[in-house]
Amino acid sequence: MRELARNPREIGAMCPSSPFLARSMASLVPAGEGAVVELGAGGGAVTAALLKQGVSLRDLVVVERSAALSAHLAKRFPGVKLIHGDAANLSRFEALQRQPIRAIVSSLPLRSLRKHVVRQILDQVSLVSEPGTMFIQFTYALRGSDQGMARGFERDQAQVVWRNLPPARVEAFRYRARPAE
Ligand SMILES: C[S@@+](CC[C@H](N)C(=O)[O-])C[C@H]1O[C@@H](n2cnc3c(N)ncnc32)[C@H](O)[C@@H]1O
Repeated sequence: MRELARNPREIGAMCPSSPFLARSMASLVPAGEGAVVELGAGGGAVTAALLKQGVSLRDLVVVERSAALSAHLAKRFPGVKLIHGDAANLSRFEALQRQPIRAIVSSLPLRSLRKHVVRQILDQVSLVSEPGTMFIQFTYALRGSDQGMARGFERDQAQVVWRNLPPARVEAFRYRARPAE
């Protein structure tokens, strides 16, 4: 709540993600090799679901911009690779240079962040992805929005999660190919 009062645009949610929303997001991460990158982990509801789903500590990389929430995450998940940083700098993070990325799981409030920031973040998502990488994003817009669509991705599936405050839609996109410049 303190972080929400300090920075409502970046927190973008009144309540933490429910366990149902967190589980829905985690369930869309494909099994297999490669890093799973979580953007905007906040209080760690989705982080917990990813670990419970079987994503290994070796594969999980968590990115959070708020210093207070990063400190909280470090305490809650000892051993998790945590980057206290901005998702708009994804391609510069050393922890992401070592292995291909299997999935990017985002709780970033794309509807409340400034448009140019959203563009930067989605461009970075495209830049670090390769064919098959999944981008999983939730939104409170229950229908008809292209807000989570990064370049080179195609919509894969969507699930509405009613047991969240407010209800949310989880969308999964699959990276097909780098678009021509
Ligand atoms: C909706 S909240 C997180 C919800 C989280 N699933 C939970 O249950 O706590 C969004 C989070 O994104 C973080 N955030 C916002 N902009 C960011 C950015 N550019 N890079 C990394 N994290 C960011 C905020 O600090 C906040 O923790």
